Amino acid sequence: MQGTAAAGDQQATVLCVGLNDVDLITVVERYPEEDSDQRGIEYRRQRGGNASNTSTVLSHLHNCCEFLGVLPSCSSPEYSWLLEDFRRCGIITAGCVQSDVPLPMATVLVSRQTGSRTIVYCDNGFPELSHKQFVDSVMDRLHQYRWIHFELRPKVDDVLRMLETANSQRAAMTSDVRHGAKATRGQGSYVISVEIEKPECDRPERVMTLADVVFISKDWARSRGWTDMRSAVISARSLCRPGQVTVVVSPWAEEGAAACQNDDVIVVPACAPGDVVDTLGAGDTFVAGFIHARMRSSDLKLALTYACHLAGVKCTLAGYDGLR
Ligand code: ADP
Ligand code: FRU
Repeated sequence: MQGTAAAGDQQATVLCVGLNDVDLITVVERYPEEDSDQRGIEYRRQRGGNASNTSTVLSHLHNCCEFLGVLPSCSSPEYSWLLEDFRRCGIITAGCVQSDVPLPMATVLVSRQTGSRTIVYCDNGFPELSHKQFVDSVMDRLHQYRWIHFELRPKVDDVLRMLETANSQRAAMTSDVRHGAKATRGQGSYVISVEIEKPECDRPERVMTLADVVFISKDWARSRGWTDMRSAVISARSLCRPGQVTVVVSPWAEEGAAACQNDDVIVVPACAPGDVVDTLGAGDTFVAGFIHARMRSSDLKLALTYACHLAGVKCTLAGYDGLR
């Protein structure tokens, strides 16, 4: 495993840690019947993965963004294509490591009729970023970020340790600043967020204590028995430590999204300014929109409304380029 070249000399202010893959997308008129034979409308290959997509959208919104994860080896057929796409979007990949294992592939059917996306994800045994690689890559530059976003992966132990490290470093930096140390260790703080998406993600109680903002997916919420977005954010919030100021946010597809901070619950309806044609990555776009807005204002309702607006616009577009 080795590091990759930086895209330019800029210092990122937002770090997204998680997965990248290749999405092989076929747009079909309607979702097919099993064992049928039909023609697609369009085929395209797109860089995918939650953290990778969130980086793309944050970068399109003019945030200086860095993606940290595992890339394929230089000899793999996808390497140049992937790196070129990260560069095209202005995303820094300086801290990424590489693996010889073939990159994960997702076969995606997007229905033109409904905009639904059906994803079949194949991880090919590709490794996930370890806690040690996280430390080696960014430990000495954590101070440069204003926001660090994690995607909770099935290898939850490593992500939990990364969250712990981000918390302890932040505490150390804040105490340095309090004790009058020079600002060489940065401005002293960043927001930590994490997305819990897959139903199999375990130890949410621990995750809740380690992030300032927790995004919970509809699928994960339902797997816990929470059937609507309002009760999902209230129930998830109750997993936090008493007195802890954690914002819990839950995007809920065409119904919109809910957020809860202390005892305040906010619900915002979904809005799409046109026909919904592609919902692939709507959740990743929502997360990017929320981070973008929250970095500029502490108004929770504003952030939730902007996130729903941006995700709604995304649903009317193929891919993410139109969000520039
Ligand atoms: P994911 O892509 O992770 O499955 P969701 O389906 O929950 O995420 O969608 C994320 C956000 O995208 C929602 O909160 C909503 O704002 C927006 N969205 C998703 N589907 C639609 C839709 N059909 N119409 C309008 N907005 C949508
Ligand atoms: C969309 C997405 C795709 C990827 C899949 C991985 O949210 O990130 O780009 O193939 O999810 O679960």
